[in-house]
Amino acid sequence: MTYQDVYERSLAEPEAFWGKAAELIDWDVVPQQVLDDSRPPFYRWFPDGVLNTCHNVLDRHVDGGRADQLALIYDSPVTDTVKSFTYREFRDEVAILAGALSDLGVKKGDRVIIYMPMVPEAAMAMLACARIGAIHSVVFGGFAANELATRIDDAQPTVILSASCGIEPGRIVEYKPLLDAAIDLADHKPRTVMVLQRPQARATMVEGRDVDWLERVSSASPVDCVPVAATDPLYILYTSGTTGEPKGIVRDNGGHAVALAWSMQSLYGVEPGETYWAASDLGWTVGHSYIVYAPLFHGCTTILYEGKPVGTPDPGAFWRVIAQHGVSVLFTAPTAFRAIKRDDPDGEFIARYDLSKFQTLFLAGERCDPDTLHWAEEKLGVPVIDHWWQTESGWPMATNPIGIETFPIKPGSPTLPVPGYDIRVLKESGEECDPGEIGAIVVRLPLPPGTLPTLWNADDRFLDAYMNTYPGFYLTADAGYKDDDGYVYIMSRIDDIINTAGHRLSTGAMEEVLAEHPDVAECAVIGVADELKGQLPIGFVVLAAGADRDPAEVESELVAMIRERIGPVASFKQASVVARLPKTRSGKILRGTMRNIADGEEWTMPATIDDPAILDEIGVALSSMGYGKEQQ
Ligand code: COA
Ligand code: AMP
Repeated sequence: MTYQDVYERSLAEPEAFWGKAAELIDWDVVPQQVLDDSRPPFYRWFPDGVLNTCHNVLDRHVDGGRADQLALIYDSPVTDTVKSFTYREFRDEVAILAGALSDLGVKKGDRVIIYMPMVPEAAMAMLACARIGAIHSVVFGGFAANELATRIDDAQPTVILSASCGIEPGRIVEYKPLLDAAIDLADHKPRTVMVLQRPQARATMVEGRDVDWLERVSSASPVDCVPVAATDPLYILYTSGTTGEPKGIVRDNGGHAVALAWSMQSLYGVEPGETYWAASDLGWTVGHSYIVYAPLFHGCTTILYEGKPVGTPDPGAFWRVIAQHGVSVLFTAPTAFRAIKRDDPDGEFIARYDLSKFQTLFLAGERCDPDTLHWAEEKLGVPVIDHWWQTESGWPMATNPIGIETFPIKPGSPTLPVPGYDIRVLKESGEECDPGEIGAIVVRLPLPPGTLPTLWNADDRFLDAYMNTYPGFYLTADAGYKDDDGYVYIMSRIDDIINTAGHRLSTGAMEEVLAEHPDVAECAVIGVADELKGQLPIGFVVLAAGADRDPAEVESELVAMIRERIGPVASFKQASVVARLPKTRSGKILRGTMRNIADGEEWTMPATIDDPAILDEIGVALSSMGYGKEQQ
């Protein structure tokens, strides 16, 4: 079948299409109904189906002939460790960990926060929750205590699983002090914290609350998979919204299993038994879907990599992993390739490894600049596929669907809509844009299985954020266009989200932090172009009247505040004290114009500007930070 056939069928007959795909999954109760559309825009997939996700990623393969195949390879250059688990071994570890969680009183529907580095126990923890029907919420290790506290209060976990430390090149990140601080800050208190002690740092335990991971696991017995409704949540994953309150994206069990299992062959062109590597972090949606769930649904071997693309130890790190483990598909963010290209522009490290099994490179998480795309294509000699998705979708929305049909690559475009996603580009009026015309990218409802059914405990916010702007459509918050061939181009966000090293961050949330500084009267944070990370946040603040402070001192306090409150992952390294911020006459800060000046782009003086001279002052501040060029 051609892509066109598959795509059209997925939209014209979604129930037949996804009903067929559901055969890829083992059900305790096979769904008789594929789609419940009785309460739009709250659609539910496979409403009467019953299954267990952990059974589908592990037990099913153990029983079905893959018991001795590797399920997961942990490759950690930062600890000089490589450790492999067969499907049987991994299942057994997960079943015992699930037993330990049950012993701690975790039941179906309870939330468990996982705040851990990239160790196999983190993936086991996710699957152990899935095994007993508990809802996991993984929090990325680069977030600060405050961000973790917000998530604790929203998810209200019974138990938190953590480790003594993560390892960043050149420093050990002690997790436990951050976790203790977060629990102190949060109103909700977990009953138990279970801590994996790593040899690089020992966590101090809190009497009566904290328990040792290994001790608990060694006294636990394995437990079986608990059947859950297809519509029961499998996990909550928090992602940046437009305020300091992150959005709790909910993922259900049934739709998720079907969509991800279907994606592996159709979109990634990978066969069961092959080795699939998503070089991301378990704290992100890519890590959930394509380090843990999808490769294991599909019977692949997955890789959990605790390292960086460069510096662990060199820019050959990715090629070493691919060669050593026979990886056929690599999935990472363009920023990783920009880092490799910066350190090894001629690709000398690539030539040192046997990459004969390597078939395809997938990139996502941010716009893929054509230079990076071409460099990767030329140096690797394999197809390089830019594909587009979001935490909300949980799997690709646009790609070059190589498992169905391969299309010519157009640099700058993630190619075509994925089956199931009826992607449209709309004008503000709600009319469709012409080819080439930029508008809001939306997806006509219903969204396919695997996408967010709602936000955790926040149906109204779900409606406001995604559904109310264009009734009948999901608002992606990306802007872009389609060309004459239907190729999708993602150009920018329409909200305050920026993308730093493939990490999604809210400048609004950073402004909320800066505004709390006692000497700050008002502030603006903008994302400026950065050669390595794509975008970097920088801040401008106006001091409160009477604040007699050394600007440099305030600036470094502001940088420290963002690191302390949001985390190092924000990469917020520069702030500037200015006399005034540029505004419209109605008082709206002209962040877009500031960004244009910073990036040296063409800009026009906004007709509504209050005082044009302020932009000159901003230009001076930007150039002292190393940004902005004279306008031509
Ligand atoms: N725990 C604690 N701190 C972390 C962390 C973690 N899990 N991950 C990152 N950090 C810290 C880093 O140490 C760094 O701290 P620093 O300011 O003290 O240097 C800061 O957060 C920023 O990290 P990052 O943006 O990742 O920058 P980097 O310079 O360490 O690495 C890249 C740059 C491009 C190599 C790296 O970002 C990368 O590999 N990106 C790939 C992105 C990716 O996988 N995205 C997922 C979507 S597919
Ligand atoms: P996240 O939810 O962290 O996965 O971030 C999703 C956002 O990253 C999207 O809304 C886009 O703005 C951006 N993004 C992801 N993939 C791509 C891509 N291939 N091209 C352009 N932007 C992308």
